[in-house]
Amino acid sequence: MLSLRALPAVARCSSRFLIYKKSLAVFVTLPVSLLEVVNTRLGANQLLASYKFVHLRLLPLRKGCMKTKITEHLTRTRIFILYVSLLLVVCVSIVGSVEAGHMRSALQKSAPATQAAAVEKSVEQVQKNIQVLTGLPASQLIPVMNYMGSSLGVKCTYCHVRKDEKWDFVSDEKPEKGTAREMIKMVQGINKGSFKGNPAIGCFTCHRGSSSPVRVPQLPIAAPTPFAESAEAAGTAKEAPPTAEQILAKYTEALGGSVAIEKLKTRSTKGSLTMIASGETMSYEAYQSAPNKIYTILNTPKQGVIERGSNGQTAWEKSSRGLRDVEVNARQSLFSDIKLGGQFTRIGYGGKEKIDGKDVYLLRGIGVDGKGERLYFDAQTGLLVRRITSTTTVVGLIPEQVDYDDYRDVNGLKVPFTIRFTSVDSFSNWTRKLTEIKLNAPVDETKFNKPAQAPSPGAPPAKPS
Ligand code: HEC
Ligand code: HEC
Repeated sequence: MLSLRALPAVARCSSRFLIYKKSLAVFVTLPVSLLEVVNTRLGANQLLASYKFVHLRLLPLRKGCMKTKITEHLTRTRIFILYVSLLLVVCVSIVGSVEAGHMRSALQKSAPATQAAAVEKSVEQVQKNIQVLTGLPASQLIPVMNYMGSSLGVKCTYCHVRKDEKWDFVSDEKPEKGTAREMIKMVQGINKGSFKGNPAIGCFTCHRGSSSPVRVPQLPIAAPTPFAESAEAAGTAKEAPPTAEQILAKYTEALGGSVAIEKLKTRSTKGSLTMIASGETMSYEAYQSAPNKIYTILNTPKQGVIERGSNGQTAWEKSSRGLRDVEVNARQSLFSDIKLGGQFTRIGYGGKEKIDGKDVYLLRGIGVDGKGERLYFDAQTGLLVRRITSTTTVVGLIPEQVDYDDYRDVNGLKVPFTIRFTSVDSFSNWTRKLTEIKLNAPVDETKFNKPAQAPSPGAPPAKPS
């Protein structure tokens, strides 16, 4: 487990080897624990399959016995043997059904257990030397580490030991790691004591990209403008701010209107994906079908072809390293950036800001998955230009940003041809530039399903039936 979790991070820190692995996860990397859930489910299915198999074997046996009974001219020994075998069959069936009952109840019991597993292991169950981050979901460890590093403007080596090209994350040798522990406790304490447990303060609040926060105001400090207030008092400056409903309605119209959106069934895209850190570019294709089926294929220079797919129920990845199940990404639906209504438990107007010199309206919300959301809409065109999703952790809010650019008209709908992904892990940032987008063109629906596993040498023979 340790190696599984730490390895990508190690590689990311030291070389480019695994940059792809992380970055190709279009939005989220796979939490290993979810793989485990899938494994548990598979286990249960196999149990069921083997149980059915045993049962199927027993049925013809019973029928055979009935026939024997009907047949005449039986000697006493034959009758005796028949009785014994009948008894055996009865016993086996009883034991079988009792076992089936056990299995069923075990399965029923395992249902809540699976749900519990879906809640995920905490980091101290997975790592060796966790003293303050106890209770943190294991999948958040590396994002938290990246967040701390980027908040302080440092790399992993600032707090962790690296000797002879080998990482020792467990070691407490560096005093900075100890300070970081104190700081984590401090942040938890401030949020609990002063902000009712809300994640108001994080490492970035003070550090802002530097290991030593600025303590003294930098002079000269800009004098407050005395006229702003009087202009407001005169009632000339302020325009009534739009509501969230108005901004969302304008966005729907800007995209092409709800009628055109409702007609959208498929989207096929082709283009390229560039990793910002390495500058490497690879060809990218994606096929989507309403509501949430997706198939993507990437041609990477070093890892070869990487395919990913999801039919809404199961998601998978196929690469040179084999075929594996991955987490279904609920945020990968065809409509995830198109139909925004219904994606939030609450949403409201958050003010007017500027992005690249253009006025934008900000909406702040909480997604149905509990993540914080900031959506920026071009005040002029009404189109979505930026979406920032933040995960709440004990050390602060960890953001992931997606920028939408180069909107063009495709069959009556506006579609962004450039998409940029940015996160606290600078090695996973990418830009996707599309060259071709087709809407409602037929797509091969079989592409979304998990491909058959190529039989590996030494694999057990295929199951009967
Ligand atoms: C500002 C200091 C700091 C930086 C930078 C940092 N870490 Fe950590 N890391 C810590 C602390 C503190 C802990 C122990 C947390 C605890 O005790 O709960 C830790 C724990 C870990 C662990 C768990 C070790 C174990 O087995 O207990 C791993 C793995 C890890 N860090 C990886 C990384 C990676 C990868 C990076 C770079 C992306 C990184 N860290 C950057 C401070 C840091
Ligand atoms: C309330 C403000 C504040 C917050 C929040 C904060 N720090 Fe600090 N941190 C400081 C100050 C101030 C210093 C410098 C202390 C000094 O110079 O003695 C510091 C120093 C450090 C140092 C030592 C730097 C060095 O040069 O030795 C580390 C490591 C550190 N912080 C990590 C963190 C981490 C990780 C977090 C988030 C969990 C965090 N800090 C959150 C204020 C903060």
